[in-house]
Parts: sequence; structure tokens; C-alpha cells
Amino acid sequence: MYTEKVMDHFMNPRNVGEIENADGVGEVGNVKCGDIMRIYIKVRDEHIEDIKFKTFGCGSAIAASSIATELIMGLSIDEALKVTNKQVVDALGGLPPVKIHCSVLAEQALKAAIYDYAHKNNLVYEGLAGFDPHEDHDHHDVVEIEF
Ligand code: FES
Repeated sequence: MYTEKVMDHFMNPRNVGEIENADGVGEVGNVKCGDIMRIYIKVRDEHIEDIKFKTFGCGSAIAASSIATELIMGLSIDEALKVTNKQVVDALGGLPPVKIHCSVLAEQALKAAIYDYAHKNNLVYEGLAGFDPHEDHDHHDVVEIEF
């Protein structure tokens, strides 16, 4: 049911923890499953210099966030905003359909962290257009938008 990559990132998640004095922190929750994801970013010269995550979430959310941090580390903010949950799922070698929303949580938390950074520094990013960190990330709404 789960690929080796998923199991590996679930058992040994990369970049877990908090960043002290983070430049941006994003937290999103899913009302249906109750899982919560928090992502911290450190930004230097418009690039993601460091990224860490913490989650009260299921194994797929842990695996998705872990691999997402690997994909995103070192990217420019514009590049990071283009990383989709589909890329995250592909990098994991796939997730069961009922677990796709868990990868959406990682994407949304990253966007929320960049939103926080942008808000604090009066910056505007095209990739954040239409993103509202306070909206309810309901399973069905998100899955319908993404797929
Ligand atoms: Fe909710 Fe996985 S079941 S994030």
C-alpha cells in the first residue's frame, strides 16, 4: 500500500523541528481528520535557506512534509511556490488516493509560511495570489481543486 520511499520518510523524517527566529511560520489544519502541520522557514537572499516542520498528523503527512522539505530546501521563494502536492506525491512514488490530501497539507503549510514571511516584510509574490491561510482546508474542497 505504501512505497518504500513513503516508509523511509515516515520512519526517518528529515528536517523535523522548529527554527528559532524563523522568518516565516505557517500552520494549517484539516478539520476533518484533525491533523495539524506547521512549517518554519529561514530566508536569505530570496532563497529558502532552511526549512523545518512539525506535525500532529498521520504517517502520510509526515512522509509528505519530510520529502517536501527536501524538495524545497535551497529554492528561491518563487520556485518554492511552484512546488505542487503532485510533485510531492510523485517524489514519494505515490500515495493511496485517500491519503492525497495529506500531501496537500504540506503544500498549504509551506504557502502559509511564505505568506507569513511576505506579510512581515511587505512583499508580494505572484505564487501567493488567491492564497488565504485562514480558509478552511477541507479535504474535499482541496482535493477537488488540486485534482
Ligand atoms: Fe489527515 Fe493524513 S489523515 S493529514
